[in-house]
This record gives sequence, structure tokens and C-alpha cells, in this order.
Amino acid sequence: MRELVFPNINIDDLTRWTGDVSPLECISIKDETHNVKSFTFKSKKDAWFQFYPGQHTTLFLKIDGQDVMRTYTIASSPTRPNTITITNKRMVDGVVTNWMHDNLKVGDLIDALDIGGSFSVALDKPKTKVLFLSGGSGITPMLSMTRYFYDLSLNVDIVFIHNAQSKKDLISKDEIDFYNASQRDFQRHYICDVASEDWDGPSGFLNYEMLVDLVPDFANREIYCCGPEPYMQNVKKILASANFDMNFYHQESFDIESSTAQKNMAIDSDMPKHKVTESEINEYNVTLKKSGDVLPCGSNTSILVSIQKQGITVPFACSQGLCGTCRTKMLEGTVEMDAQGGLLKSHEEEGYILTCCSYPTSDIVLDL
Ligand code: FES
Repeated sequence: MRELVFPNINIDDLTRWTGDVSPLECISIKDETHNVKSFTFKSKKDAWFQFYPGQHTTLFLKIDGQDVMRTYTIASSPTRPNTITITNKRMVDGVVTNWMHDNLKVGDLIDALDIGGSFSVALDKPKTKVLFLSGGSGITPMLSMTRYFYDLSLNVDIVFIHNAQSKKDLISKDEIDFYNASQRDFQRHYICDVASEDWDGPSGFLNYEMLVDLVPDFANREIYCCGPEPYMQNVKKILASANFDMNFYHQESFDIESSTAQKNMAIDSDMPKHKVTESEINEYNVTLKKSGDVLPCGSNTSILVSIQKQGITVPFACSQGLCGTCRTKMLEGTVEMDAQGGLLKSHEEEGYILTCCSYPTSDIVLDL
């Protein structure tokens, strides 16, 4: 009789993927809806992926001779650490997403950056009751977090509300329906933007009455919200009208594809302004240690913009301090950073900054 060989699940023996270990190999592509696909990747060197559910990674591609990068939330769960899955929707001007839908094949290799972001239930030590609110492709971090709770059999009561344009736009419906049918503490509700003959559920945009009706105890839940900006604005308006304690509200914009990254260049005038009066502006030197470049940077200019002005390409996506893609280690100096949640406390303690929202207050040296 052949000897049984158990799989090696001792992660201490395995390499952790850090984004530059090796390219990712696309191992499966699944149609989720008529315009949404899921792409699953594994590391070429069998490294495993360590991340929090709800975090994202940035893909680097060459499209029509141009280097482009886009940040995508990982829809899979870190409890299945040998692969990551990116689920994205074809968009009218979505250069990278549309290229992936039209060109990426199983077996293709793609470069990606380490995983980042701070939108995760695992980081917040949430209440044991959570409410996931998502619109359109904003469902992806909710899928990751739901899969994480399910795999670990964590004792968390989840209400999952998802808004889609129509019935045919419901992403991962079968899987969510399975959780709804098989999990005692999981309830899902779908809302379609437009009423139609083939849809007998609620329709329209989420409003206060709908929320109370679907989740009478929403005030006692930790809320995670992700979707297009108008969707999240609407949710915040509803919660404000209900005097919801916003300490228990977390949101993530998935709309990075249509932001400054689309232009492949962070545009200074599009970026949030750092408040420094004319008389307080000082000029500092930013030294890139690996390349040896030394660049000027005023204390009112983001370090990312000053680097790009020299024609140097560095990773970035949201340019708002949200996504963490521009995370860089600062070896010397000091900055003022207007981060909006894109940097984990632990990374800040290790000396990382977000170049898109960091402004020098001395000469600095970066690990670039
Ligand atoms: S580019 Fe998103 S945090 Fe800097």
C-alpha cells in the first residue's frame, strides 16, 4: 500500500509572497456576470499570500507599449492562501480592466505589488454583529471578508446588503445564496437599482426606511461600506439622519480605475491640498537611495508629484492616501502625512510613508 503524504500546511516552511518574489500566474478565469470576471493567480514560486480580508494589490502591465498599474481589492480570502482572486468589471474607459477581460489568458504572467490597505474587519476587532453594504464592484472586499468569516467559522452575525443595477449584475449570487441558506447568522438582501419584471426584490437606492426594514438592529452593528462615491455618500447621509455612531462605520472606495491613475500621472491640481501658507513653503531635497537621484520638493508639494515631475515612474493609484499603493520606506528625514487610512499602523512604525500625501519637513532619503 502506498504511503499517504499529507500536504505541507506548515506556513513557516513556505515563502511568503511579497510582491517581488516572482510574477503571478493566472490559473483561472471565471465569468461572474455579463461584464464581470474573476481572475485567480498563484505565485510562480509557490509563495503563499498573507493579507487581511478586504486588502488590495496593484497589478503592473504593459499595454500598447505603456506601463500602467491598477489597484484591485482581493476578493478571495487569506484563509485560502495559495491563490488570490481579483474580480473586476469591464468599464467604458477601463484601460486595465478591459485589457484583462479581452487579453489575459490562463498561464499568462503578470507583475504585482505587495498587498496593502486598511479596510478590513480583521483590523478593527469589530462588534460580533456586522453589516456589509456594497454597490456594484464594491462587493469585492465584502466577498473576501465573508469568505474569511465562513472559513474560520467565526462567531459573527453578518447582514450582507448588495445593490446592483439589475438582476443580471448580481456578482457571486450563488455563493452568497449558499451562505444565506446554510449559515444561521448570515442574511443577505439584494437591491436592484431599477425595478423590472424579472426582479421581485426591493428596487431603487437604499434609503432609511429600507435599511430599517431590512436590518432593524443596524444601529448595533459595525458597518463596512464600499461602492461608487454617490453610493457611499448616500449611505453616510442615511446614517447621519439616524445619528449612527460613525466610529463604527468604515468605507473603501473601489473607484480607483477611474481616478488619477487612469491618466498614469498624479496631477498636482487634482490632489487634496496640503495646508502650507506661501510664507511657510520651504524647498527640500528628496534623495532616492537606490538610483542616486536627488530631487527638489517644496513643503507644499507631495513627494509623489515631485518624483513624477522628474519623469520617474513609481507605483501609485488613488493619489489620495487611501489605497497604500505608493507606500515607500523613508530612511531619513521627516514628513507631514495626510493619509486617509491607506497605511497600516505597523507599516508607519516601520518607517513607511505614502508618497502621494506626504510633504517634506526636512531633506529626506527614500528607499527607492
Ligand atoms: S496612491 Fe493611494 S495611497 Fe498613495
